[in-house]
Amino acid sequence: MILCLIALTCSTALAFEPSPLQDFCVADSASPALVNGKFCKDPKLADAKDFFYSGLHLPGNTSNFLGSKITPVNVAQLPGLNTLGISMVRIDFAPCGVNPPHYHPRASEIFTVLEGTLHVGFVTSNPENRLISKVLLKGDVFVFPMGLIHFQRNMGYGNAIAIAAFGSQYPGSVTIANAVFGSNCNIPSEVLTKAFQLDNNVIDYLEAKF
Ligand SMILES: *[C@@H]1O[C@H](CO)[C@@H](O)[C@H](O)[C@H]1NC(C)=O
Repeated sequence: MILCLIALTCSTALAFEPSPLQDFCVADSASPALVNGKFCKDPKLADAKDFFYSGLHLPGNTSNFLGSKITPVNVAQLPGLNTLGISMVRIDFAPCGVNPPHYHPRASEIFTVLEGTLHVGFVTSNPENRLISKVLLKGDVFVFPMGLIHFQRNMGYGNAIAIAAFGSQYPGSVTIANAVFGSNCNIPSEVLTKAFQLDNNVIDYLEAKF
């Protein structure tokens, strides 16, 4: 009995997102109720448009300082993804464009290059902090394990396009530079000067950037 309980508890802890308890649970955007995920709308009222998204063939606008643009298709854009534990993005890169170091708190990511040449990598956790990176060509696939900091950079002369899928309906994203130097309110400079071994004025400079 005790062993069964332990086994059950462990299997729950290992699952990334709970398995669905019905065919589907289309997110009801009108519901004011807050649950872990989104409330279900009446399944009898669900139809094809709840399971549908259009426009992933369209290039994202990369005219920004990073030279990259993410087009997400998660439960916020596609309500039928609620409780299914999957989602995806399209990422466009201008020449030299970068998707800066970030991590997804709730999902591993499987990433494939449709066009162009991308240098991608992730860093293992403390204390090794080993960079595992590779240059990817069209058709190549790479995986970023859940919670690890990763990046992509366009190395080619032309634009690059990637599609990535996640093991979460809403993987979330934490961009390191924005979270550390652009938090609302700022992390105390006494913390950042020690953490980054930088002078106060450099910290001020970085905070002003974000
Ligand atoms: C792309 O974004 C830039 C900067 O926000 C904007 O000036 C430009 O009009 C946009 N281009 C298109 C095609 O939407």
